[in-house]
Amino acid sequence: MRRIAVLTSGGDGPGLNACIRAVTREALQRGAKVYGVRWGYKGLINGEIDELTSRDVGGILNRGGTFLGTARCPEFKEIQVRRTALRQMNQHGIEGLVVIGGNGSLAGALALHEMGFPTFGVPASIDNDINGTDMAVGVDTTLNTILDAIDRIKDTAASHQRAFLVEVMGRDCGYLALASGIAGGAEMILVPEHEGPSLEAIADTVVEAYTRGKAHCILVIAEGWKPGTQAVAEHLRARKDELGFDVRVTVLGHVQRGGRPSAYDRLLATRMGAYAADHLIAGESGQMAAMRGNVLESFPLAEAVKALKPLNLTLLGLSEVMD
Ligand code: ADP
Ligand code: F6P
Repeated sequence: MRRIAVLTSGGDGPGLNACIRAVTREALQRGAKVYGVRWGYKGLINGEIDELTSRDVGGILNRGGTFLGTARCPEFKEIQVRRTALRQMNQHGIEGLVVIGGNGSLAGALALHEMGFPTFGVPASIDNDINGTDMAVGVDTTLNTILDAIDRIKDTAASHQRAFLVEVMGRDCGYLALASGIAGGAEMILVPEHEGPSLEAIADTVVEAYTRGKAHCILVIAEGWKPGTQAVAEHLRARKDELGFDVRVTVLGHVQRGGRPSAYDRLLATRMGAYAADHLIAGESGQMAAMRGNVLESFPLAEAVKALKPLNLTLLGLSEVMD
């Protein structure tokens, strides 16, 4: 394969630039030309495609976001629209595509592969919900950002004897809540994968934490958990008199997506990006780079996007022991 393209698609996250750099430099090393596609699948359809040199990807390893830009492009699910994308790549002589993104983006890469166009994926999503890989690019940095926030919230919570509901991202996946809740020493973690306690029982736990003399009570809540953070806040406030703690809510939001990538994410992104370029050029298609027990392997995109990665719920038990 002599010419490949690379794009980032879906929600951004730390480590995407490191990954683009790795794809580019590995491919150049192997004698291929590399093309960067702006704005994900949207740019692919519109032909926003430019050649990348080694210098073009210099100085970006440590920067958050994606210098190529990213986008959501719902129309890419239509075969006619994907044909337009294939025509654009054909005009540039591009023979293969590396897609860096989450479940949706990888479904797009699978769809192109099924139309006969060679693609290779790199799992990149702060949610860590992609089946087949222990970690996705961006997760580690986001966890550290959340932990930094929880540590800060604990300082103020303890100073005022308050209960804090900290809502974290993750879409329908509770990984970020579970991992940050354990590493941040939360009193309670609520995730969509586990029905969890009733609002009554949640309030009882908060009362109990106060009675046990805790200076603060931190509940980490995944954004996908139902009935949702506001429902908990309202219920706790309704039982204000017996609660002990005053209640505050912090929704961390998009601050979790930005920032310089951690050492772990730079390494993961570099390894996965180089692996993807290497294997695509060698003729592999319809696969993604997957980290399994610290070994990189090819994992079929069809398996990766079939279902969300299951959450290790035994860790919830660990968090209860530590409470
Ligand atoms: P992420 O990749 O972060 O999970 P999305 O789910 O929003 O983000 O998907 C990103 C993009 O991938 C979508 O906007 C669309 O362009 C493309 N995509 C998602 N699902 C499919 C699909 N089934 N077939 C083709 N393209 C898809
Ligand atoms: O998939 C990454 C993610 O940050 C999810 O955690 C979150 O639900 C979603 O994207 C937010 O998307 P947007 O940036 O479009 O609001």
